[in-house]
Amino acid sequence: MTSYLLRSASPAKTRADAVVVGVVQSGKGVALAPGADDVADAFGRQLRPLLAGLGVKGGVGEVTRLPGGRTLPAGLVVLVGLGRDPGPDVVRRAAGVASRAVTNAASVALALPADSPALVRAVTEGWILGGYTFDRFKHDTASEADPPGSVSVLSPIARQAEAVTAFEEAQTVAEAVLGARDWVNIPPGDLRPPAFADAVEELHRATTKGRGGPKVTITVHDEDALAEMGCGGILGVGGASAAPPRLVEIAYRPKDATTHLALVGKGITFDSGGLTIKPASGMQTMKSDMAGAAAVVQATYAIARLGLPVRVSAFVPMAENMLGERAMRPGDVLTMYGGRTVEVTNTDAEGRLILADALGRAVEAKPDVLVDVATLTGHMVVALGDRVAGVMGGDDVVAAVLEAGRTAGEQLWAMPIPEDMVERVRASKMADLLQHDWVRWGGGLFAAAFLQEFTGDVPWAHVDIAGPAFNSGGAYGHQTPGGTGFAVATLVDYARSLA
Ligand code: BES
Ligand code: MN
Ligand code: ZN
Repeated sequence: MTSYLLRSASPAKTRADAVVVGVVQSGKGVALAPGADDVADAFGRQLRPLLAGLGVKGGVGEVTRLPGGRTLPAGLVVLVGLGRDPGPDVVRRAAGVASRAVTNAASVALALPADSPALVRAVTEGWILGGYTFDRFKHDTASEADPPGSVSVLSPIARQAEAVTAFEEAQTVAEAVLGARDWVNIPPGDLRPPAFADAVEELHRATTKGRGGPKVTITVHDEDALAEMGCGGILGVGGASAAPPRLVEIAYRPKDATTHLALVGKGITFDSGGLTIKPASGMQTMKSDMAGAAAVVQATYAIARLGLPVRVSAFVPMAENMLGERAMRPGDVLTMYGGRTVEVTNTDAEGRLILADALGRAVEAKPDVLVDVATLTGHMVVALGDRVAGVMGGDDVVAAVLEAGRTAGEQLWAMPIPEDMVERVRASKMADLLQHDWVRWGGGLFAAAFLQEFTGDVPWAHVDIAGPAFNSGGAYGHQTPGGTGFAVATLVDYARSLA
């Protein structure tokens, strides 16, 4: 266990095995970033030729290690590039890089720019997120470095209440992001719907245990309850799996709440495509198809732990999209929660079916605003790449979610729901609504138009995280391979904006 401290100490005098400082590009050269002034002073006139000799350019993501030698008490100095304009996003990424560059140090001092609460938060989050590993299925972890016992975030405003709050809240949010990463990374055979629901209940117990814990309630609806409720979407998608579907509902009701936020997250624990089976390559990362559910659950408990004065109701459908004798077929008509019928044409467009039931439940709770998060379409990845989420829905909610993303350091982009898509969703010859019409273009927008049918009069935004939920490549910045925990931080900041 690492303990985190926020201190105003000077890095050149701090006793730590390693000290992390930033390098900024200024004019034609490089200089140490704010926060490292007395480290620069300690090196004095040696600094410039030293940096030049090491080839330090200060680009974002660059990392250089040098011995502290006789100049500093720290044995190791880690220089991380911050580019020309070291704002919170860049600092978060750089702290993440530093977290992987510091190995086998018992104590670390982070002397990155931290003279505002937003920067204190960025340093703290970046460090925690960037150092994440998922090794619970590995036997040989001896070669991996031990995490440091103590990490000090050095900040000139360490004694200000806003800085302390930002520092503590950053740890809570980062922990929630790591929780979401864990759930995404767990092999799909180990996290089928009943096991996923159990894991959520375990988080619930850990969050609410003891006196003074936040007021949260949880209900897990099993397959019998879902049948009773008429959740035909969740039952249709989950029918072929030997592990039955679930709907988890969580409610956080603080006394001082003025706004009621409903969250819905797609929890497909594995997406084979069903009878409309995916090609092998398309199935490779489909354990991540519950990333929206993971983000919504983790954000809900983080909001509760932070004590934000916002009522939150989370609705999390969980199903495994498999093939078999009991699988739904293209051509089947499902009756969704609330009674509307849907003509299924592609069993691989399953997310919208389980979300329809959950959105119906959410609307019944009469929230002021509704946000769903889902790894919904490959179309969104084609449109925006694998690091940016698409946001669709009502203009005001979309704008507020985009703004929360900017605060949280996550990239989101507004996408439209064109009127002709709405017409196509309503053009089934068989049922009230058409699930999919085999027109390839703009499939992510068609999916949003379908979801919109289930949002009633509630102001709503849909966040398609199919791209950024999973990192198939190597680590970069504070992102590590596998699940990213995308949307947890944005949801928490969105809730904060409602408070
Ligand atoms: N889970 C997938 C979407 C996805 C694709 C997530 C790539 C992450 C990465 C979803 O259920 C799906 O299969 N969508 C189809 C929709 C189509 C059948 C309309 C797709 O993207 O092709
Ligand atoms: Mn699918
Ligand atoms: Zn899916």
